[in-house]
Amino acid sequence: MFSRAFILVAGMLAMSAAVCAAPAPLKRQDTTVYNGQASYTEFNGGYGNCGSQVQNSDAAVGIDRNVYGNGDHCFQFIEITARGKTVRAQVVDSTDGDGALNLSTSLFEQFAPLDAGVFDASWQFVQSDN
Ligand SMILES: *[C@@H]1O[C@H](CO)[C@@H](O)[C@H](O)[C@H]1NC(C)=O
Repeated sequence: MFSRAFILVAGMLAMSAAVCAAPAPLKRQDTTVYNGQASYTEFNGGYGNCGSQVQNSDAAVGIDRNVYGNGDHCFQFIEITARGKTVRAQVVDSTDGDGALNLSTSLFEQFAPLDAGVFDASWQFVQSDN
C-alpha cells in the first residue's frame, strides 16, 4: 500500500541515482605528479601494450611501467607539462624509466623537434571528461 506520492519520490530518487552513476573509476584517481624523461617512438600503427593500434598522429603515450602496472591506466588521459606547454595524451603503452614517457612522434613534436630526442617532463592523470 504505497501511496502515489511515495512511488513518485522513490522513482525520482532512483532516477537521480542513475544520473549520478557516472562511469566509476576502477580505483581512486592517481593524483601524483610524476617527473621523468620523455622520449618518442614511431608507433606506425603498431600495438601498444594496452592492445590498441597506435598511429604516429595520435596523441598517445607510453608511461613508466611501474605506474602502468598491469595496464590499470590503459586509455586514461594524462597531461604532460614541459617547455612551457601542457598537452593531453592517452595512455596506450608502457616504457622503462622512473617517471618516463614514450611519446608518439606527433605528440613529441608539440614540445620539441624530434632532433631533441628527449626532454624533461612532468605529468599527471586527468579525468577524461575535464
Ligand atoms: C617506445 O615504444 C616503442 C613501441 O612500444 C618501443 O618499441 C620502444 O622501445 C619504446 N622506447 C622506450 C624508450 O621505451
